[in-house]
Amino acid sequence: MALLSVEDLVVRFRTHEGTIHAVNGVSFELEEGERLGLVGESGCGKSVTNLAILRLLPRPAGRIEGGRVRFDGQDLMALDEAEIRDIRGREIAMIFQDPMTSLNPVLTIEEQMVETIQAHRKVGRDEARARAIELLETVGIAQAGARLRNFPHQFSGGMRQRVMIAMALALHPKLLIADEPTTALDVTIQAQVLELLRELTEGSGTALILITHDLGVVAGMTQRTNVMYAGFVVETASTAELFARPSHPYTVGLLHSVPRVDEREGEELIPIEGRPPDMRQLPAGCAFAPRCAWRLERCWVENPALRPVVEGTPIVTTGPRASHLIACHNPPTPDEAATGRPIRPGFSPAPAPPGLVDELSLRSNGGPGGLADLIEVIEATEGPLSPWPSAAGLPLPPDEGDPDGGR
Ligand SMILES: Nc1ncnc2c1ncn2[C@@H]1O[C@H](COP(=O)(O)OP(=O)(O)OP(=O)(O)O)[C@@H](O)[C@H]1O
Ligand code: SF4
Ligand SMILES: [Mg+2]
Repeated sequence: MALLSVEDLVVRFRTHEGTIHAVNGVSFELEEGERLGLVGESGCGKSVTNLAILRLLPRPAGRIEGGRVRFDGQDLMALDEAEIRDIRGREIAMIFQDPMTSLNPVLTIEEQMVETIQAHRKVGRDEARARAIELLETVGIAQAGARLRNFPHQFSGGMRQRVMIAMALALHPKLLIADEPTTALDVTIQAQVLELLRELTEGSGTALILITHDLGVVAGMTQRTNVMYAGFVVETASTAELFARPSHPYTVGLLHSVPRVDEREGEELIPIEGRPPDMRQLPAGCAFAPRCAWRLERCWVENPALRPVVEGTPIVTTGPRASHLIACHNPPTPDEAATGRPIRPGFSPAPAPPGLVDELSLRSNGGPGGLADLIEVIEATEGPLSPWPSAAGLPLPPDEGDPDGGR
């Protein structure tokens, strides 16, 4: 049985501006000791998925409206507040982007670490203190005994994140969830902290969910990857398979929009045009359709289910042989994935049905990132501005589309 099993998780936020469809039926599993990456643009539901697993959604707005989460044989949704609190910290630990949000600024590191260790293990103060020193040394903090007497503000950002990792690992959690743990750190420190996280989880058999925008981090740190878009998992595979054979247009777009270490000389970066959808008004069809170069007519009306890339193969949910699944009606061929755009002769992305454009016009609120932007994107597909389609299918403005123009 998997250590963690998330089944059809649905999370909504009820706000004055409407209902936000933050997570829309996410399912995945994780084995003991497995390292899973979670990637996708800002607002796609990465943090909310994990806050929901830990039942830490901001209330009253955030609600789990469907699905099941099982952890180590227990139904996390059925536990009372005291029981779930006991699991958080002891069995599942979480590290956030900014350690200052998790560390108490008015207590010394010693007070916080000793308290954390004693809250979950029956040990005396001296033993807890010795364990705290040992842990700080493990995460590379010199003169750990003396540093214990410091307050959080006396540590640099990188050192504070090391302290957080030490505190998280103090309890030998079965699962560690790290949400953008190095985004606030400079590049060299980032690499050191990530390496530490990898070594420590590997050494202790702790499973890891690593949330990040950075595909390079996923490649170096994880064994499996879930790609999320608009609250859906749109592609999942072992990390090696995902990078070797990206099969969803959004993943292809992500890979072509950032520089890669293995990039061939002169390979151009192709940004994903447009914006993620308004999470209050998700389209009936595929949420990626307005930005997708591969879209068919059915994509506007029919949301694709997550299915094996190789039709008919049995689904393996975890481990090195985990199935490669995508949610797409018209996946790019391997050549197209390598090129970053459709290359089959005569193909062009299906324009939005006129009814949908009318409906969106009526609903337009003109706000930033709102429907007005979406309409602009859809209208752009009706009258190409440039002969060069972008990777994600939307015509580029003439100056950007001109391969020699201004670059
Ligand atoms: N407290 C909240 N109230 C209302 N909506 C929220 C709240 N927290 C998150 N959301 C919404 O839920 C959706 C998913 O947000 P989430 O924080 O999971 O994104 P994310 O993928 O973690 O993005 P980022 O990479 O920026 O951290 C977004 O549309 C976001 O606006
Ligand atoms: S081809 Fe269709 S289903 Fe696939 S990502 Fe594009 S719009 Fe969505
Ligand atoms: Mg987040």
